[in-house]
Amino acid sequence: MRAVMCKTLGPPKALVVEECASPMPGAGEVRVAVEAAGVNFPDFLIVQGKYQHKPPLPFSPGSEISGIVDAVGEGVTSLKAGDAVLGVIGVGGFAEKAVARAEHLLKRPATMDPVTAAGFAMTYGTSMHALKQRADLQPGETLLVLGAAGGVGLAAVEIGAAMGARVIAAASSPEKLEIARAAGASDLIDYKKDGLRDRLKEIVGETGVDVVYDPVGGELFEQALRSTAWEGRMLVVGFASGEIPKAPANLPLLKGCSIVGVSLGGFRKRHPEAHAANFDQLFAWHAEGRLKPLVSRTLPMSKAAEALTTLASRGAVGKIVLTMERPA
Ligand SMILES: NC(=O)c1ccc[n+]([C@@H]2O[C@H](COP(=O)([O-])OP(=O)(O)OC[C@H]3O[C@@H](n4cnc5c(N)ncnc54)[C@H](OP(=O)(O)O)[C@@H]3O)[C@@H](O)[C@H]2O)c1
Repeated sequence: MRAVMCKTLGPPKALVVEECASPMPGAGEVRVAVEAAGVNFPDFLIVQGKYQHKPPLPFSPGSEISGIVDAVGEGVTSLKAGDAVLGVIGVGGFAEKAVARAEHLLKRPATMDPVTAAGFAMTYGTSMHALKQRADLQPGETLLVLGAAGGVGLAAVEIGAAMGARVIAAASSPEKLEIARAAGASDLIDYKKDGLRDRLKEIVGETGVDVVYDPVGGELFEQALRSTAWEGRMLVVGFASGEIPKAPANLPLLKGCSIVGVSLGGFRKRHPEAHAANFDQLFAWHAEGRLKPLVSRTLPMSKAAEALTTLASRGAVGKIVLTMERPA
């Protein structure tokens, strides 16, 4: 099989595509013939050794996949060969075959095509967990989404709208904001052009926003925290800006607000039933047409470095997905 391999930590251009032996599933694992793989910011961090999970070299990156189960390890009863699946597998997804724990895979609904499914599990799983379990977002509340046209950000816009919130999308260009509007945002903030706090005051007045979804970090974090409402919830999702912010602790005190961490992996491990229930809801919304995941680009697996570089330079909207077809 062919796989994208990381042999030395560094920029995506150091990745190589190689023929290698197909991995064999161990006890509790299955092997998946990968049809497509979503490209995510953590993939960019992991190949540089900058992510919390540091797999030993060499490894194949790629965490979010869809495909068909083609071999089943000892003790697996939940899946069989031929099942169409999607899931978040950690690493190994930028390859024609990948091994995953059976419990890390979900059956792909017949209503979802493999390319859409490849960009769904991490992106929508994270944003659903953030808004449902961590923020307890209520209908009629205001939700500010930073990086609102990115992978997890755009999913948060759609899910927030489906949950009945008033969604305020914030991003770095008018083009990105139009994409967020089409996904359900009713108010838009171009934070490259306008000050985040001033525009928020125009939109919600002095009350502030109930929930902030922040996958960006950096200086936007404190600005958004200063704009939260009484009993607001500030969701720490990620640091795509490259800067982990440090917030003054008097702000949560004065505002009676909470800074709330979000970890999809930690949640799935500790609460598998709630994680599965989240996906039942997400698949139902998708089948009803209430979620319309945006895959803005599909590229062959051999272009993994280009895909990661585009993502890391703020050039992606929605999802970039790699497909595993061999070149003709
Ligand atoms: N907590 C979890 O469980 C979890 C799960 C998945 C992902 N994440 C994290 O969430 C973050 C976003 O991941 P993603 O896959 O959605 O990434 P993405 O598609 O690249 O979106 C990130 C967004 O951040 C904004 N951004 C601001 N400064 C940036 C910079 N210097 N470089 C790149 N983007 C920048 C961009 O929007 P603008 O140009 O509009 O500013 C971009 O659209 C990452 O930090 C990732 O590690 C966390």
